[in-house]
Amino acid sequence: MLNIVLFGPPGSGKGTHSAKLVEKYNLVHFSTGDILRSEIAAQTELGMLAKSVMDKGELVSDKLVIDMMRNKISQNKDKNGLVFDGFPRTTEQAAALDKLLAENNLSVSAMIMLDVEREELVKRLQKRSETSGRADDADIRVINNRIDVYNRQTLPIAEYYKKQNKFQNVNGMGSIDDIFDRIVKVIENL
Ligand code: AP5
Ligand code: MG
Repeated sequence: MLNIVLFGPPGSGKGTHSAKLVEKYNLVHFSTGDILRSEIAAQTELGMLAKSVMDKGELVSDKLVIDMMRNKISQNKDKNGLVFDGFPRTTEQAAALDKLLAENNLSVSAMIMLDVEREELVKRLQKRSETSGRADDADIRVINNRIDVYNRQTLPIAEYYKKQNKFQNVNGMGSIDDIFDRIVKVIENL
């Protein structure tokens, strides 16, 4: 199975390239952000817990996110592969993902980090705010906080994957097609 952790700051293209990976390699896509937004839309208890945290651009609790992923992984262990988008976001989540995968005799094939300059992230997210309807895109202060939270709490996981020799850096600047070609090259070389 091809199990990819697609990693990178807000606006780096995780969602964009997950969709393309799903199409090319027939993978199952797990975006914790999308799952949480659908919980909010359905006004579930979990959604209500997550909403105020997400609107500020902070991270939802590890326990909530890990519990949410547990069933998703065991239900999809017979597929071609999985692409994780926006998960893991803390070292605790990274360790939990390894454990959840191992329980199903699976493992992460590679962690692919989309490397994008801050100025470009802000530009993309401000543009997306015109159509996304996402509360966390609507306010420049929240956009900046999301990037700060990423740098502080999420970027350190790169070390976790470097130690496992699974870290792959991809230049995330340029056209979507060029970036996707770079990602495919990394995968084909695994
Ligand atoms: P999440 O939904 O994961 O949001 P994010 O990480 O902030 O990332 P985005 O979805 O904004 O960006 P993306 O990398 O997917 O980029 P995209 O492809 O859309 O998380 C939201 C919140 O949920 C978090 O803040 C947190 O509160 C909570 N949460 C989620 N997961 C969690 C977890 N594991 N633990 C705790 N809390 C969690 O691209 C962005 C835009 O740019 C699009 O408009 C796209 O069309 C455009 N674009 C893409 N590539 C290019 C390009 N090459 N050139 C020009 N434009 C481009
Ligand atoms: Mg996304």
